[in-house]
Amino acid sequence: MKIFLDTANLDSIRKYNDMGLLDGITTNPSLMSKEGGNPKNVMEEITKIIEGDVSLEVVSTEYSGMMDEGKRLREYGDNVVVKVPMTPDGLKACKSFSSDGIPVNVTLIFSANQALLAAKSGARYVSPFIGRLDDVGQDGMNLIKDIKQIFDNYPQFKTQILVASIRHPVHVVDAAKIGADVVTLPPAVLDKMMKHPLTKIGLENFLADWEKFKATNPDVKI
Ligand code: G3P
Repeated sequence: MKIFLDTANLDSIRKYNDMGLLDGITTNPSLMSKEGGNPKNVMEEITKIIEGDVSLEVVSTEYSGMMDEGKRLREYGDNVVVKVPMTPDGLKACKSFSSDGIPVNVTLIFSANQALLAAKSGARYVSPFIGRLDDVGQDGMNLIKDIKQIFDNYPQFKTQILVASIRHPVHVVDAAKIGADVVTLPPAVLDKMMKHPLTKIGLENFLADWEKFKATNPDVKI
């Protein structure tokens, strides 16, 4: 399963990329606004730091605007995936970009039917928002199971399931058990995945024992 970071924060992107954890980045207008500064510089920098796919989202809601924005977004790097909303105009833009060999991520997916239509339009990724479904009392992970089953039934669809709106590490394990292609994680969730209280306690005990040993063997080095 690929791991993407769901952020436009350059420090976080560099931090986790240096650990070798990142296969790509997803952004959206909310994440971009949060960072402030000039979005153009931020987007360009992300495409330079990350070798894998970088989803940059359009803000137009009609077809021709999406096409213009998507083409401009692609100028930031060859690894840019144009992110469009799951709307009729978004699907039309998805079809046009995909036919020209430009990869597309269709976002704001909340049903299996929407995922099916985005796949038909040639999307490289569909982004189902599981946390937001959980928030309204629907089990978001059931949507991932449904989309996975549908895509497996029709191998002609090459569209990848990019699980978005992930809120905690259990979401990640469940998505991996289902066989989702990608999870996109807020930095805080990736951070939590690394930690376990027994790891912390275990390391503290190892170091305390070593200090005791060193007290009587001061010249020993590792
Ligand atoms: O990038 C889209 C998605 O991951 C947003 O998540 O937490 O705003 O629902 P959230």
